[in-house]
Amino acid sequence: MPEDSVRIAVVGATGQVGFPLAQSLTNAGHDVTAISRIRTAQNGRKLDLLTDAGVSLAFCEDYTDTDAMIEIFQGHDTVVVATRMNTAIAGEVGGHIIDAAAAAGVTRFVPDEFGTHTLALEYGCGTLFDVKKKTQERVIASGMNYTLMFTGGFFDYFLPNLRLFDRITTFGDLSIQFATHDISDIAEISARSVVDSRTVNKAVQIHGNVVTQTEVVEILRDCWPDYGFEYEHVTTEDIIYQKEHADPKLVSAKGGAEPDRERAGINYTIWVLGRLSAPNHENTLNASHLFPDYVYKKPEDVLCDRNFVFGDK
Ligand SMILES: NC(=O)c1ccc[n+]([C@@H]2O[C@H](COP(=O)([O-])OP(=O)(O)OC[C@H]3O[C@@H](n4cnc5c(N)ncnc54)[C@H](OP(=O)(O)O)[C@@H]3O)[C@@H](O)[C@H]2O)c1
Repeated sequence: MPEDSVRIAVVGATGQVGFPLAQSLTNAGHDVTAISRIRTAQNGRKLDLLTDAGVSLAFCEDYTDTDAMIEIFQGHDTVVVATRMNTAIAGEVGGHIIDAAAAAGVTRFVPDEFGTHTLALEYGCGTLFDVKKKTQERVIASGMNYTLMFTGGFFDYFLPNLRLFDRITTFGDLSIQFATHDISDIAEISARSVVDSRTVNKAVQIHGNVVTQTEVVEILRDCWPDYGFEYEHVTTEDIIYQKEHADPKLVSAKGGAEPDRERAGINYTIWVLGRLSAPNHENTLNASHLFPDYVYKKPEDVLCDRNFVFGDK
């Protein structure tokens, strides 16, 4: 184990972010505890892979059980939260996890962000971002150090594909620039950032690939010139209407955990306001400056990959 090894707990370690993040932290020589609610048919394989990699497992069926969480967090320097996220989950468990970490003597807390730069947003842009902002305030008030990871969009959701969408779907203003990254890069940069002394009480903006929807659709067409894609565009007016009127409970998108109205708030912030990332925000470090030699996967690397675009089709 390296001299600067950190004891770090990852809550939600079987998820899209949590799993590769726990792996990256372990590969870097840190002492990682993966926290999951319960072993299931869905997460069992990932839990086994983490165990094989040398990660310790801890289970807590109910993250509002503060005493149980304090016991799990005891002895850890850092807690990273990467559970599934929507306003209901944030409201139910977010505060309890922060309180338990503070009570257990954890010194750095990394809340469940991994997307839009919510620190730079004012309240009212979308319900999911509002709860993430509230959580940030609670972390800051807890007295623990913190690091906020703003990753831009995951390739899966932000690059055109037919796995998560029925047609090639574009949103709002096609010329808005946005940052998007492969989940493996998000995990690796997050793993480096959350143990780095330069990022204490800072936000980190991952900003390795910055593109527009027009550009990525062109890359897709260049990769698959003979495929007859069908297209769908969700207009700015639609997004604005849906932000106020879509069902606040129904989750109709194929990917993601947010109900339709929350998702419309996300689309509004990204594809109408153009505020997914904020590399120049005053309390924000640009990951491209922190780790200048890191080479990110590019959109064209995955848009030419049959599995990424078509999956099982
Ligand atoms: N930037 C982007 O494009 C983008 C895209 C998607 C998500 N995100 C953000 O990334 C963060 C992590 O999301 P993710 O997609 O990695 O999560 P995820 O894969 O949906 O879920 C992570 C883990 O959370 C646990 N979980 C599921 N439901 C839960 C609940 N009700 N309460 C507590 N734990 C629950 C599950 O683990 P166990 O069953 O093992 O407990 C699951 O494996 C979120 O903040 C999300 O908003 C960003």
